[in-house]
Amino acid sequence: MDPMHARLVAAARDVARHSYSPYSHFAVGAALLGDDGGIYCGTNVENASFGLSLCAERSAVSRAVAEGVTRFRALAVVTDTDVPTPPCGACRQVLLEFGPELEVILAGRGEDVVLTTIAELVPHPFTSFTGADTESR
Ligand code: THU
Repeated sequence: MDPMHARLVAAARDVARHSYSPYSHFAVGAALLGDDGGIYCGTNVENASFGLSLCAERSAVSRAVAEGVTRFRALAVVTDTDVPTPPCGACRQVLLEFGPELEVILAGRGEDVVLTTIAELVPHPFTSFTGADTESR
């Protein structure tokens, strides 16, 4: 595996240990590589009111944005499953906001990873206002 991808997967696997998922018991870790070289991690945060649960990917985006970083190169998502788990539709849309070129690395508990891009995960995107190529990023 590309060493940077391996670093991101390791960071995502590490943050998943902090998942707050007492309802689903499904821990998810996400690690975003910023254009600044920084790694911004997030994990899922569930709630007794299930619909309020926050996914790991959006948690990572919030963290990066709060640090002033809105340009991303790659994202790793890690779950403790046999087969890697792709981001849900809501997270795909949120990730696309920051550009279609984002590389996405998906890993389960094994060594195998799936490599894709956010553009591939959202083939017919809604980008009317942001264009996902916004000048203001
Ligand atoms: N989850 C994520 O963190 N990311 C996704 O893309 C899909 C689902 C979380 C939400 C919830 O805490 C648990 O996984 C089960 O749906």
